[in-house]
Amino acid sequence: MAGSVIRCLTVQLSLVSLLLCSSSSMSMAQHTLGTGSSLSVEDRARPFLVSPDGTFSCGFLQVGDNAFSFSVWYNAAKNGTVVWTANRDAPVNGRGSKVSFGRDGELALADTNGTTVWTGKTSGGKRGLTVSLRDTGNLVIEDPSDGSAVWQSFDWPTDTLLPSQRFNKQTKLVAGYYSLYFDNDNVLRMLYDGPEIASIYWPFPGASVFDNGRTNYNSSRIAILDDAGVFQSSDQLKAEATDLGLGIKRRLTIEQDGNVRMYSLNASTGGWAVTWSALKQPCQAHGLCGRNGICEYQPKLRCSCPPGYVMADRRDWRRGCTPTFPVGNCSHGSSPALAPAGFKFIKLAHTDFYGFDLGYTESITYKQCRDQCLNMCLCTAFSYRLDGRGRCYPKGTLFNGFRSANFAGNIYLKVPLGFNASAQSAGGLSCGANVTVVPVSADVYGMAQGNSGQWTYFFVFAGVLGVLDILFIATGWWFLSSKQSIHGSLEAGYSMVMTSQFRRFTYRELKAATANFKEELGRGGSGVVYRGVLDGGKVVAVKRLAVDVTMHGDEELWAEMTVLGRINHMNLVRIWGFCSERKHKLLVYEYVENQSLDRHLFDAADGKQTTLSWSDRYKIVLGTARGLAYLHHECLEWVIHCDMKPENILLTREFDAKIADFGLAKLSKRDGGGSGVEFTHMRGTSGYMAPEWALNVPINAKVDVYSFGIVLLEIVVGSRVADQRTEAGEQLQLPQIVQALRHVVDSGDVMSLVDARLQGQFNPRQAMEMVRISLACLEERSSRPTMDDIAKSLTAFDDEDEHPAYH
Ligand SMILES: *[C@@H]1O[C@H](CO)[C@@H](O)[C@H](O)[C@H]1NC(C)=O
Ligand SMILES: *[C@@H]1O[C@H](CO)[C@@H](O)[C@H](O)[C@H]1NC(C)=O
Ligand SMILES: *[C@@H]1O[C@H](CO)[C@@H](O)[C@H](O)[C@H]1NC(C)=O
Ligand SMILES: *[C@@H]1O[C@H](CO)[C@@H](O)[C@H](O)[C@H]1NC(C)=O
Ligand SMILES: *[C@@H]1O[C@H](CO)[C@@H](O)[C@H](O)[C@H]1NC(C)=O
Ligand SMILES: *[C@@H]1O[C@H](CO)[C@@H](O)[C@H](O)[C@H]1NC(C)=O
Ligand SMILES: *[C@@H]1O[C@H](CO)[C@@H](O)[C@H](O)[C@H]1NC(C)=O
Repeated sequence: MAGSVIRCLTVQLSLVSLLLCSSSSMSMAQHTLGTGSSLSVEDRARPFLVSPDGTFSCGFLQVGDNAFSFSVWYNAAKNGTVVWTANRDAPVNGRGSKVSFGRDGELALADTNGTTVWTGKTSGGKRGLTVSLRDTGNLVIEDPSDGSAVWQSFDWPTDTLLPSQRFNKQTKLVAGYYSLYFDNDNVLRMLYDGPEIASIYWPFPGASVFDNGRTNYNSSRIAILDDAGVFQSSDQLKAEATDLGLGIKRRLTIEQDGNVRMYSLNASTGGWAVTWSALKQPCQAHGLCGRNGICEYQPKLRCSCPPGYVMADRRDWRRGCTPTFPVGNCSHGSSPALAPAGFKFIKLAHTDFYGFDLGYTESITYKQCRDQCLNMCLCTAFSYRLDGRGRCYPKGTLFNGFRSANFAGNIYLKVPLGFNASAQSAGGLSCGANVTVVPVSADVYGMAQGNSGQWTYFFVFAGVLGVLDILFIATGWWFLSSKQSIHGSLEAGYSMVMTSQFRRFTYRELKAATANFKEELGRGGSGVVYRGVLDGGKVVAVKRLAVDVTMHGDEELWAEMTVLGRINHMNLVRIWGFCSERKHKLLVYEYVENQSLDRHLFDAADGKQTTLSWSDRYKIVLGTARGLAYLHHECLEWVIHCDMKPENILLTREFDAKIADFGLAKLSKRDGGGSGVEFTHMRGTSGYMAPEWALNVPINAKVDVYSFGIVLLEIVVGSRVADQRTEAGEQLQLPQIVQALRHVVDSGDVMSLVDARLQGQFNPRQAMEMVRISLACLEERSSRPTMDDIAKSLTAFDDEDEHPAYH
């Protein structure tokens, strides 16, 4: 009797152990393991643990050639996204390494030779502990008798915070030189701690804690990301995901570019979308471009060197730029060779280097500021703000450089007198320009590690920043409305992008605004333009972009558009927004009342009475020149228009010129291949295109100068240059035009050339200057003037009498 009971029990026991055995050998999801369990790196195909709902796994991952980490990752994400790593800085060998959960309840990772590289420490003494992976992503060693956690991975975050994971004064998120932590004044901050400098860059260090919307009174120093997508900290930071709500998998991660971003998982694609980011402008992170380097966001993050400086290490921007000229040697006193007279200054517009000021003076003139820097041996540059308050900051070392079109200040770089700035190429980016600015890529930061391949761990700038920008626009409104107080203090231009009124429109909205694309205003190569009225009553022009523009990915388009949306100059048509929904790509522009120049210049002959007066013509010429000069020389991205013609010069009611369609050339389909900025086919309009379009050379801003020369001539003559015929009825060729203009300039007989409809009502000195400039514009490329030169020459003739009669 008793014997049969015992036999029965044994059978049951062996059945149980058989079941246990088979389930583990089937390698199916283990959620919890007891002491004595282990996993060798050779068996890495099988995870160590899987969370009960399958969201997270824990086990070995390859991080390089024969280098492995013990990590927790998101199963649901495509390729798996690592959220925690035990041995981030000490990868183990691919043979013989092992993670084991010992009898003493200690989780330990051992390398091939038996060295323990990592342990999940427990206080010891407890028996019967288990290790499990929770649905939250928390790897926990617990005491099943009372359910208490003896050790948990949530207490040791690496670069990622998961929903419900508490962030406190002991924890830090770290990526490269960047970290997120609670400072000892109770404020949650981000720090760059690089090889050369260390500085806090978030929240904005130029503003007080309170101006940044934080407080330092609450010493609990706790932050938590909740399940609804709200990241809240005891210093009153409250960040909300744009897709606020339950049921979405999220993470908050600090990345190699120094930004902290919240991501939401797209359950259908397994991809991540940024739904919040701490820095609204990537260049706000310090250290990205190294010493002397300048960070720009245009539309991707780029680093560049100032004139006279070269990249210190072609593979790593963090090493910054070194000067090609001798810099002052202060330890040596002021030697005669380096006396104040031995220097001059080069202006870098809209640029600043944050911090490292040798002093600060207010209410002084530019010249006084310059003299300060000249007389200071340590001064390498000075910043002078153009806000009317005469603020002067001499700089010692140049770090954290950034450039932004909206930054109202310049840097003046101290260089030796003999230094030739024009010999240094400034580097531009545009319709066909040769890009000399090297983009910051993942490789540069050593992020693309070996053949990791399996999972997305390292952040790649290029792909994600586009998305970021969109989100930035979405969150920008929130920022603007809720943080007005910050605004005044964030005068450093890199925060000013937020004032841009650029926004995303829906197709429905624009369809309604244009009454189903009823009133056509004009059409051209890039699309048809319609009149529209937005909800607020603002009249706009809506352009439906032509097909080849739609070849671009949404994010790329967005990135490009936001750059254009930030360009703001009175002679350039403002871009208010953009719509991209499936095949619908539309641009929303400022509405300019008076149509384009061609209608006034060429159509007026038949029917319409009014001929453009001379003063209006000159005003248009001047405005156009200034607009182009701004595009070429001053704006964020040295945009080349590539299609200058009267159709693209719009006129306001007062006949002020506004250039339209700038930047669109860039949106057109380019060559495949990474950095390709060469065109596969020619841009522009026949009759206005520079001869070099036909040659196989990189295009630069001088193509616009050529086109401007033609337009200038047409404004003087009052008809299309392409319509001019020789006596034999043939179309005039460039050499003949040039010859005719030379003759006018030599003889001084400008009257014969000027539009007869003006009946002599014009200013001959202005007309002659226009002919001279036009002639110079049609020269061979290297001899053409720049738009800056042209705008200056035209301005010099601007204050003439309005309509002196021609005698
Ligand atoms: C074990 O190997 C690691 C790396 O492979 C090495 O750093 C360590 O010194 C070795 N330890 C011993 C005891 O050999
Ligand atoms: C401090 O912050 C914590 C966490 O946000 C909060 O629960 C607590 O009420 C705050 N204390 C005070 C005094 O505001
Ligand atoms: C997920 O991605 C797909 C494809 O890109 C997209 O259509 C869908 O809207 C996304 N879902 C969410 C919730 O973002
Ligand atoms: C500064 O001048 C001293 C004396 O001529 C020289 O020894 C030193 O190398 C110089 N330092 C630099 C950085 O040029
Ligand atoms: C400066 O460099 C440019 C381009 O190399 C050259 O054409 C010019 O003559 C130089 N100017 C001086 C003053 O050396
Ligand atoms: C761009 O400039 C670089 C350096 O001046 C040169 O090596 C390269 O060939 C140029 N590329 C093109 C397409 O002209
Ligand atoms: C996922 O892995 C595949 C193959 O290794 C790779 O081609 C793809 O780019 C990866 N996806 C992401 C989002 O990293």
